[in-house]
Amino acid sequence: MVSIKPMMILIILGLCLILECGKAELPRFEHPIKPDGSLSLLVVGDWGRRGLFNQSQVAAQMGKMGEEADVDFIVSTGDNFYDDGLTGINDPAFEESFTNVYLSPSLQKQWYIVLGNHDYRGDVLAQLDPILTQKDKRWFCMRSYVLNTDVAEFFFLDTTPFSDKYFSDPDHTYDWRGILPREEYLSNLLKDLDTALKQSTSNWKIVIGHHTIRSGGYHGNTVELENRLLPILQENHVDLYINGHDHCLEHITTSESPIQFLTSGGGSKAWKNKFNPVNKDDLKFYYDGQGFLTMKITKADLHFQYYDIFGNILHQSSLPKGFYPM
Ligand SMILES: *[C@@H]1O[C@H](CO)[C@@H](O)[C@H](O)[C@H]1NC(C)=O
Repeated sequence: MVSIKPMMILIILGLCLILECGKAELPRFEHPIKPDGSLSLLVVGDWGRRGLFNQSQVAAQMGKMGEEADVDFIVSTGDNFYDDGLTGINDPAFEESFTNVYLSPSLQKQWYIVLGNHDYRGDVLAQLDPILTQKDKRWFCMRSYVLNTDVAEFFFLDTTPFSDKYFSDPDHTYDWRGILPREEYLSNLLKDLDTALKQSTSNWKIVIGHHTIRSGGYHGNTVELENRLLPILQENHVDLYINGHDHCLEHITTSESPIQFLTSGGGSKAWKNKFNPVNKDDLKFYYDGQGFLTMKITKADLHFQYYDIFGNILHQSSLPKGFYPM
């Protein structure tokens, strides 16, 4: 007869494997798709300037496209409040740069937001405080999280702590509460992302962070993300990496992998007129000015378009599924 004790241990171990005891996981959320099986979204980045630098013009055009496309939600790629994030939960910049700027009825949807480096220059915990969601129910900002829908899974990532330069920046102070010790934070985050990507059964895997991986803009590539994040995205057949940080709109592909690199950082101040070299076959599109990105996703295909502040389509592309050999 088998004794009870080893049996119990086996059962507990088995349950732990199934339930993955003790494993930290990225928080997960769900968003419904449309009854016709599609999902529409807008992506804007690098925006909070109290309406200035064409932020209000971008917002107005987002409102028009948002209505036309009947968007389900809006994504922010970070740098939500310039220049130094929010001073606290009562900083009027929250209303002046968010609530009172994105006024169109079609933009009164859920916003899924990540933090950028400028957000870390203020009270970073304020932007993560649920009090902001009480002030404006559209606001949803966490450091890193997974948003699942029936057609695509989105992995929102806190990229600022990856970049060495902010840790030795003599000109600014950063609010590192909650991410120290840094190396532990980064390696846990990469492990959690890898786990979440491996568990995903979604047709489309879309990763969103503030910083560039590949960019021909002023900031160019982020070496730390090329070294540490990109291999995980490649290994897990991520379809798109979407970022802000460079204040432009761009679309890059490479021969290394099928990942499409989309920059949507044209939410306000732009026209930097400073560039980094990119292989000309890789650079599918670059616009140095203001605008935003729209996306329509179904199980079978994903279509995206870039708009300027006048509503002109600057660039568009479609990805059919079956893109990856399954
Ligand atoms: C606002 O947009 C227009 C049209 O693209 C552009 O000519 C102008 O320079 C922009 N203003 C600023 C401050 O970026």
